Amino acid sequence: MNASTAAPTSPLTRAESPPAFAGFGLGLRPPYYTDFLAGPQPVDWLELISENYMIQGGKPLAMLDRIRADYPVAMHGVSMSIGSVSALDRDYLRQLKALARRIEPMWISDHLCWTGVHGMSLHDLYPLPYTEEALRHVVARIRQVQDMLETQLLIENVSSYLTYAESEMSEWAFLAAVAEEADCLLLLDVNNIYVSGMNHGFEPRHFIDGVPPGRVRQIHLAGHSDAGDMIIDTHDAPVADAVFELYAHACRRFGPVSTMIERDDAIPPLAELCAELDRVRSTAADACPHHTHYQEDAPCLI
Ligand SMILES: [Fe+2]
Repeated sequence: MNASTAAPTSPLTRAESPPAFAGFGLGLRPPYYTDFLAGPQPVDWLELISENYMIQGGKPLAMLDRIRADYPVAMHGVSMSIGSVSALDRDYLRQLKALARRIEPMWISDHLCWTGVHGMSLHDLYPLPYTEEALRHVVARIRQVQDMLETQLLIENVSSYLTYAESEMSEWAFLAAVAEEADCLLLLDVNNIYVSGMNHGFEPRHFIDGVPPGRVRQIHLAGHSDAGDMIIDTHDAPVADAVFELYAHACRRFGPVSTMIERDDAIPPLAELCAELDRVRSTAADACPHHTHYQEDAPCLI
């Protein structure tokens, strides 16, 4: 599938949930604006960082409007702080909804995390304690946000560098329960699973095996750095071979899932990232050859 044949996006209504399979995408980053405006690129869709465009006017929004005319897009946020005990930021959600009305994304995602307390942002994505109390809290908040935005959210697992003694279940059991009880969808970051698995000593495949297939609507891949005693989710390098192997495992479990590469630092020429995306396509096709949808133009509707 290429940009010109990609499925049309859905309006933001609960009745029309995000498409089952949109192909293979990349993160839209400013260094690539001119490439995407210059002509068709071998990318099915683009993911944008919502907060970068939640302003009235300006060059980024003008660029997005033009690029959106040729590519389906997904909105990915970093500031919802859905797990925080602070009140939901209604102004933020109103701006998010306004951007969604403007660009009609395939879906809206954010992270299963908290980013601050008492109105203070800590500028990082912190994991939750995996307890029944935290589960009830975050499920109620996701439901509130979904009602306000009038669409299902995709919730992403974060990479983490700490755990809580209070946790009562695994991260994947918590994520699965969140999805079922909030009736939301999941953005599974396979690199984050690998990073957290290495840092906390769990088998990353057990995480994949514990996630309900019907809930996974998008996959993130990214590069990481090995700091010796810890793996850091840096997004500044190609996807590691071990993460490609884990992705193949995910493809065998989940079938066709819209997948993209996140690259946020040491950004290479677009052609280099497109070549890496070809490896993602072939990994998916090899892992799950009976899912011929990987080679077809039409989105899979299983
Ligand atoms: Fe991610």
